[in-house]
Amino acid sequence: MAVEKERRDFLGMALGGFTALGGIAALGAMKRTWDPLPSVKAAGFTTVDLTEMQPNQLAVEKWRGKPIFVLKKTDKMKKDDRDIIVGKDRFFVAIGLCTHLGCIPAYYPDQLKFICACHGGQFDTAGRVLKSPPPIPLHIPPFKIDGTKLVLGEEGPEFKKMKAAGLTV
Ligand code: FES
Repeated sequence: MAVEKERRDFLGMALGGFTALGGIAALGAMKRTWDPLPSVKAAGFTTVDLTEMQPNQLAVEKWRGKPIFVLKKTDKMKKDDRDIIVGKDRFFVAIGLCTHLGCIPAYYPDQLKFICACHGGQFDTAGRVLKSPPPIPLHIPPFKIDGTKLVLGEEGPEFKKMKAAGLTV
C-alpha cells in the first residue's frame, strides 16, 4: 500500500514538473513571437564611424530610408549651437530633406552652403535657412554619441539637450 502511495506521489511530482517545464517553454516561445526580429531591431539604428570623416566633405548616410547629412566642420566654419562636439572635432548632422517640400539639397563645399534645386532654398553648415522658401532649419535626427561613433535613432544626452533648447528643428 505504501509502495503504491509513493508511486502515485512520484508520478504526481513528475507530471507537475513536466507541466511546469512545458509552461515555461510555452512562455519562452510566446515571448520570441512577440519580440521584434533582430533585423527589425537593427533597422532602427545606423552607426557611423566619425573617424572616417574628412573636413568639409559631406557624407550622406541612410537612416530609416532617409538621407542623413554628416559634415565634419573645419576650424574656419562658423560655430553654432547645433554643432555636435566629438573630442576636438565639430560635426553637423541633419536629415537631408529640404524643410520646404522634401527635396534633397546639394552641398557646395566652396560656398559652405546647401542649395535645394527644387525652389532655390539655401541652408548654411548648421542647417539654418539662408534663403527661403524653406520655413525652418534642416531637422536633426535623434542621435547618440558613443565614443567616436554616431548612433542614429537613439536619443543620447547631447540630442536631448538640443531638443530641450528647441535646436533640433
Ligand atoms: S523643396 Fe527645397 S526649396 Fe522647395
